[in-house]
Amino acid sequence: MTVRETPQALGIDVGGSGIKGAVVDLTTGEFVTERHKIDTPRPSTPEAVAAEILNIVGHFGWDGPVGITLPSVIKDQVARSAANIDKSWVGTDVAELFHRHLPGREVAVLNDADAAGLAEAQFGHPDARVGTVIFLTFGTGIGSAFLLDGDLFPNTELGHLMVGEQEAEHQASSAVKDRLELSYRKWAARVNTVLVEYERLFSPTTFIVGGGISRKHEKWVPLLETQTPVLPAELRNRAGIVGAAMAVAERITP
Ligand code: BGC
Repeated sequence: MTVRETPQALGIDVGGSGIKGAVVDLTTGEFVTERHKIDTPRPSTPEAVAAEILNIVGHFGWDGPVGITLPSVIKDQVARSAANIDKSWVGTDVAELFHRHLPGREVAVLNDADAAGLAEAQFGHPDARVGTVIFLTFGTGIGSAFLLDGDLFPNTELGHLMVGEQEAEHQASSAVKDRLELSYRKWAARVNTVLVEYERLFSPTTFIVGGGISRKHEKWVPLLETQTPVLPAELRNRAGIVGAAMAVAERITP
């Protein structure tokens, strides 16, 4: 085993289009390697994704712990849903899968938004670890993480909450903005409707909004009319990888 000066873990973020990984310094949340990205295999079955994860581990010559995110509900280390990834993940024992491909390793698997929320609470805006925080990622879907003073309540799946006639993510993900070619103003009105519903149900202290579109937060966050403050995520596309690495180091295995 290599001796390292600071605690480190490899974080791997599995998405519908890409699988991204980097070795993370767990004291700072910074990457100690470059970020390595490959295309998600098609079909994105558990065996095909696990084989690519093995390639990423090999790319870094990494022999330490590995944290992995999936766009799925993960309960007792079994995938219970599969959004934007092959449906054969549902019912997959992810601990068994990854221990078989990475024998003898410490491995933890968790939902992608939960990972990003954990990372934001630890290394992002100080308000991310104060009170009840709803952390959201806007991308192909809407991911959510509930945090209470920085601790995670996993698998909240707020993107699938019915808001009016439709699931939240079917009306206000950033993929919907792209598909319908909505202006920021029109899309922000949809996001507002969703956040007002979350606010009504959960009365959070703070909302934090992440995902690629949070890079352009100045174009839409000021248009929101919630009573709850809305902060842009600070870790941006680093969050999933960092949270995956934190989960394995802290043995957070939902
Ligand atoms: C999935 C969540 C995931 C989110 C973001 C949703 O469609 O159900 O598990 O966190 O997309 O990827």
